Amino acid sequence: MSDSTQAKVPIAVLISGRGSNMVSLVEAVKAGSLAADVRVVLSNKPTAAGLEWAAERGVPTAILSHKDFASREEFDTALANELEGRGVRYVALAGFMRVLTPAFLGRFSGRVINIHPALLPSFPGMNVQQKAIDYGVRHSGCTVHFVDEGVDTGAIIAQAVVPILDDDTADSLAARILEQEHRIYPLALDAVLSGRVRMEGRRVLGTGIE
Ligand code: GAR
Repeated sequence: MSDSTQAKVPIAVLISGRGSNMVSLVEAVKAGSLAADVRVVLSNKPTAAGLEWAAERGVPTAILSHKDFASREEFDTALANELEGRGVRYVALAGFMRVLTPAFLGRFSGRVINIHPALLPSFPGMNVQQKAIDYGVRHSGCTVHFVDEGVDTGAIIAQAVVPILDDDTADSLAARILEQEHRIYPLALDAVLSGRVRMEGRRVLGTGIE
């Protein structure tokens, strides 16, 4: 956990919708358990509900619609320009539903983190709660990982396991996984921002997260 004397790292939180993971990060910052300065909550969708929540609490917000750009690379370049212009060092994806290209990742190499609602490397991609139920796995969960150029393939920082119950629907499972997302994302991000983690190949060691 961070202490109050620790320098706050400037971050951006990127969302596309509800933004409940963004809320958990902003609340951890306010509680003093995440040594970050949220320079901007940015959405690629103007209607993202999380934007209003952030603005009401005085957190700077921005909209960068991917529809305004001719290609993924042009959007990604504009996104990197926007975040660099705000002095952002680390980027936390929180339900940001865009695959980022090297045009963005090359500018924030090793400094982009994501949360995914499954136990990677099982069930990358979309609709993963339903996929886990349909496959018949007995446990799913969530994963915080560094973002690389693949889809949900980057080095794993933290995971939490959630059992799959006989009567689970995608929605009921998603809700129980989300509780764990809100628990581990602030912890994992704090471990990275505070410099506690070290890499050994793909292994991210020293987080202290159970
Ligand atoms: C979360 O469950 C997050 O893990 C997932 O979208 C949801 C966003 O909820 N992300 C992905 O599936 C990324 N591939 P939120 O907007 O309330 O944080």
